[in-house]
Amino acid sequence: MADGTISRAPELAWWQREAFYEVYPRSFQDSDGDGVGDLRGLLRRLDYLAWLGVGAVWVTPFYPSPQRDFGYDVSDYCAVDPTMGTLEDFQRLVEEAHRRGLRVVVDLVANHTSSEHPWFVESRKSRHSPRRGWYVWRDPGPRGGPPNNWLSFFGGPAWTFDPETGQYYLHQFLPEQPDLNYRNPEVVRAMEEVIRFWLDRGADGFRVDAAWLLVEDEHFRDEPPNPAWRPGMRERDRLLHPYTEDHPDTHQVLRRFRAVLESCHRDAVLIGEVYLPFAQLVRYYGTREEPECHFPFNFALVELPADRWTAHGLRAVVEAYEAARPEWAWPGWVLGNHDRPRVATRLGEDGSRLAHLLLLTLRGTPTLYYGDELGMVDGPVQPHRVRDWAGFREWGGRWCRDAARTPMQWDASHHAGFTTGEPWLPVNSDFPQRNVASQQADPRSFLHLVRRLLWMRRSHPALVAGGFVPVGSEEGVLAYRREHGPEAFLVALNFSTRPAHLAAQGEVVLSTHLDREGLERHVPLRPREGLVVRLRP
Ligand code: GLC
Repeated sequence: MADGTISRAPELAWWQREAFYEVYPRSFQDSDGDGVGDLRGLLRRLDYLAWLGVGAVWVTPFYPSPQRDFGYDVSDYCAVDPTMGTLEDFQRLVEEAHRRGLRVVVDLVANHTSSEHPWFVESRKSRHSPRRGWYVWRDPGPRGGPPNNWLSFFGGPAWTFDPETGQYYLHQFLPEQPDLNYRNPEVVRAMEEVIRFWLDRGADGFRVDAAWLLVEDEHFRDEPPNPAWRPGMRERDRLLHPYTEDHPDTHQVLRRFRAVLESCHRDAVLIGEVYLPFAQLVRYYGTREEPECHFPFNFALVELPADRWTAHGLRAVVEAYEAARPEWAWPGWVLGNHDRPRVATRLGEDGSRLAHLLLLTLRGTPTLYYGDELGMVDGPVQPHRVRDWAGFREWGGRWCRDAARTPMQWDASHHAGFTTGEPWLPVNSDFPQRNVASQQADPRSFLHLVRRLLWMRRSHPALVAGGFVPVGSEEGVLAYRREHGPEAFLVALNFSTRPAHLAAQGEVVLSTHLDREGLERHVPLRPREGLVVRLRP
């Protein structure tokens, strides 16, 4: 293992070279026994993240919040929620992260505030409030109901009536998350101040929450029905969303955010949360002259159904993305996040090993979700333990986001070492076997696989800066070359349950089973095995 000998690809920026790691701070590490993770807890675990080999931590919201959507309902953008710590804790976290060579990226919950944010409290006071125009207020529709048929992600209409002033306000998510009005330049300026605030405190960039939803149709037209909707699909998908998603004016806002970033801190990164097909997704890079995100998250691997995790299905995804992306734009890849079922639940342990080999050898910035490096699975959250009612409704009760947010499994002690108190969500019952400590002690564990991959990626510019060249191979095997300068690697993933061979000669440097290395001719591949082979020059 090449720890310490990081061979940087000097032509690339840190956010291209390094892997990102998403921390959901409520669930990562508690430091004070209240059962909720916090910034000091995260601070204690920075050595683990440095050991693992990621280069940046994206911390989901820790700002003051009534916690209706666990921090995605912000009531003060420029402070820390008391359950999470203090602003001083944040600054220490950043300093200590930087000392270890780790960057810290924070969430910019730009689309909406909490209904308890002073801006909204003021806005709802009267139709003449100076902040009225900071949110989207409309008179009732002609028949007295909501102004139009728009639907919320979390079920029901996207409008709530405010009896005090006799108007409806817009919320793409919960009624407690009113949408800001980005047609008002004061709102854009206020959010720019938020960006400056966190950059001044050492943040290395932002993940823009709901970036594809910032602006809606100014004529408030009804959305058309979705002919493909079937019972069992999300309620919001009864409609198509030409007027509430991906509005062209959204790009102007993102360009402004990027410009502020560039003006204060040329090295900071802007990542967008964007759930759209590739052709629309890639517009969130902006243009070379007017850039927007350094990269929008590419959720294709999160959304690909398990039965399409085949050599054929994956090649199609990678090629479609590559074809849609402007040549100058840097790719990104993700396997999971706090809103979706975990990758090990979707694909099983061996499928998830293959998926991590793919994530960490594709061209582009990889983002890992906490606990996925252990093969953590979704927790069986019983209905009486559901905390995320919003997400429960969003998925029509079929799944609950809590399942992917259970506490990090550090060791086999009480509550997996997450807290000395009562954890806010139950710890998964597999924690005595599946935890950081036990996997650190087992050289073939999932954790060691992910760590080896992360360090391998860091140590070889070919795996970061190198081109991506698909290679013909046997049925069921996805194979590609990555090369840069004198180095060339062949990556091969056998998604089938049959053995296969590679028409290549080289040195196996890693197997997803971590049980073989060395020189081979016509490299044999076991069923469901992935390999990285260093090719002879
Ligand atoms: C994003 C977040 C999700 C949150 C929603 C509303 O999709 O990832 O957790 O509920 O935005 O802020």
